[in-house]
Amino acid sequence: MRRALLLIMLFSLGACQKQTSSNCSPQDHSLSAKFNFKVGTVAEPFQLQANSPYLELVISQFNALSPENVMKANAIHPQEGVFDWYPSDQLVDFANDQNMRMHGHTLIWHQQLPEWISNFEGTKEEWRQVLKIHIQTIVARYKGRVAAWDVVNEAFTEDGNLRNSVWFQHLGAAYLRLAFEYAHEADPDALLFYNDYNLAQNPLKRNAAIRFCSDLKKAGVPIHGIGCQFHVSIDFPSHREMDACMRAVCEADFLLHISELDIALNPLSRSMPVPSEEDLQKQANLYYWIFKNYRRLPEAYQYGITLWGIGDADSWIPYFFNRDDYPLLFDENYQAKAAYCKLIEDL
Ligand code: G3I
Repeated sequence: MRRALLLIMLFSLGACQKQTSSNCSPQDHSLSAKFNFKVGTVAEPFQLQANSPYLELVISQFNALSPENVMKANAIHPQEGVFDWYPSDQLVDFANDQNMRMHGHTLIWHQQLPEWISNFEGTKEEWRQVLKIHIQTIVARYKGRVAAWDVVNEAFTEDGNLRNSVWFQHLGAAYLRLAFEYAHEADPDALLFYNDYNLAQNPLKRNAAIRFCSDLKKAGVPIHGIGCQFHVSIDFPSHREMDACMRAVCEADFLLHISELDIALNPLSRSMPVPSEEDLQKQANLYYWIFKNYRRLPEAYQYGITLWGIGDADSWIPYFFNRDDYPLLFDENYQAKAAYCKLIEDL
């Protein structure tokens, strides 16, 4: 009821804005309603509060939510013993109120570490305590309200070896096992994921990550799924590589999360003040192919697909690579792009 009222309010607000001219207006459709698996997005709490077209799309199009930044260690655990819960509480409350599945991202990563962790000096046992307290304080706070966690993010390098992160330096490869065990102790019902990028285009890295996760699982470690990020572009990786990646995860008996989907148009960083119709069509075809191919996988492994942003202006890509790009389903004014329309009309 609350959700219906909010939608009516938001849609009347949206009625003043420019509408998409085709018959795939987001006001008349819901992307997530088209699939048996969850279709999620990342969100930032400040955007949900201040940006009504963004809020409208999050509520109407998606049924799962991941935090883009607020659960990363530097944001949520800025000093030893100090946790900043406010933004992540807002997001978890929002997801719970909207009946969206909340996916926690990310407990252990080599990036976005607060200085106190990067500079921490201690024995192996003290590092183990840092890992344990960080994971268990967060997971316990959201027990029963966050359905799943990216427990470890991006632990492998492109050559298939474990990355030399602070966690690896101080705890060796055992930090992965410990991380999953600590998370499970804090919320035995949460689904636990390993998450990484380039797993489609780099079979060396993919095989290493899947083998490592399989060995953990065989040893009784609670690890349930693998997140393949899928920050891809219109020209690569190939359909064959993406399909091989999806199938390899399922064949290894892990839930598959396409966890950070976006499709770049401009990986070579050319000047591209506006996207061409041809590129937007290629992008639409690839989004369509990814959803369609995912839907063909055994249902038991379909944890869901999460888009890494709502409108092109919110995407990390133009900012991070300092280039023009248009990787998402909605444009900078939150109007539906060809990709959204193709998913709605053709699937
Ligand atoms: O919050 C600060 C703000 O206080 C400061 O004024 C501003 C100035 O630079 O920076 C803000 O922090 C930025 C943060 O996003 C929040 O906007 C960081 O600089 C920026 O580096 C950070 O980028 C995020 C990046 O991860 C690094 O954490 C992107 O938004 C986010 O999309 C990206 O997401 C990652 C996934 O977590 C893991 N997989 C790859 C993916 C893309 O890089």
